[in-house]
Amino acid sequence: CATILAACTFGTASAADLTIGFSQIGSESGWRAAETTLTKQEAEKRGIDLKFADAQQKQENQIKALRSFIAQGVDAILIAPVVATGWDEVLTEAKDAEIPVILLDRTVDSKDDLYLTAVTSDLVHEGSVAGKWLVDATAGKACNVVELQGTTGSSPAIDRKKGFEEALKGNDNLKIIRSQTGDFTRTKGKEVMESFLKAEDGGKNICALYAHNDDMAVGAIQAIKEAGLKPGTDILVVSIDAVPDIFQAMAAGEANATVELTPNMAGPALDALDAFLKDGKAPPKWIQTESKLYTQADDPAKVYEEKKGLGY
Ligand code: AHR
Repeated sequence: CATILAACTFGTASAADLTIGFSQIGSESGWRAAETTLTKQEAEKRGIDLKFADAQQKQENQIKALRSFIAQGVDAILIAPVVATGWDEVLTEAKDAEIPVILLDRTVDSKDDLYLTAVTSDLVHEGSVAGKWLVDATAGKACNVVELQGTTGSSPAIDRKKGFEEALKGNDNLKIIRSQTGDFTRTKGKEVMESFLKAEDGGKNICALYAHNDDMAVGAIQAIKEAGLKPGTDILVVSIDAVPDIFQAMAAGEANATVELTPNMAGPALDALDAFLKDGKAPPKWIQTESKLYTQADDPAKVYEEKKGLGY
């Protein structure tokens, strides 16, 4: 089962013949670690030989990994692209080698004939769900917002910012007074929040935090507490991912809302690949995952218990 032209019987006992390369970004967040775990589990369940490459946040490492997968003649490639631009050349090489590529959780700026499908959420919508929550929560009250952005140049950082700003439009009570990258990590989230707090009168001038992921929010919550303020009350906290740790913070009243992103992107991706290799039927270019809002009304302590085992 060497190329997409071969008669692969995927999803059956002979799926054991498939070799798939997975180029993962790294392990910057709890969500990312869960995606890695679930991708490995999905592959194992289906008898796939998964070749895993950790890019440690570097696009050049991902490009190298893809070239190595191509040279090895893998049957397909999964990639979570760290940034949105700069993929045309290597994706063309995969296409020329007739190796289908599936994007996981982040999008690229390349033409969509260079990959089979992208399994992602609507990243702009996620930002807008978070923004709408804040519009409702503040109900017209003046509120200075600080924003922790994801990795610069990544599609979630670009789109979550856009969606949030769109949701705030026309609500003049809400002002984004500071916005900086925290690289999707807990450590950076804390560090940048500390600088925001310092610059804004020890935090007295800040009414809400919007973080592009939960890990940065968790880091920022720590910074807020160390500054002598109450996260979730003095400073509202809304973020994205819905990882177990944010539900613990919500249960303690230290965070207010999160937008869920499923870490199981590999399930739908491998199902689509299965159908493609069996019948030659191309999947839609976008397989969209859900974006559900969780608030204090959702019993965060219970959700924490439910989430814990699911790859986290
Ligand atoms: O691309 C998805 C984002 O990447 C997740 O929201 C974040 O936690 C991760 O690092």
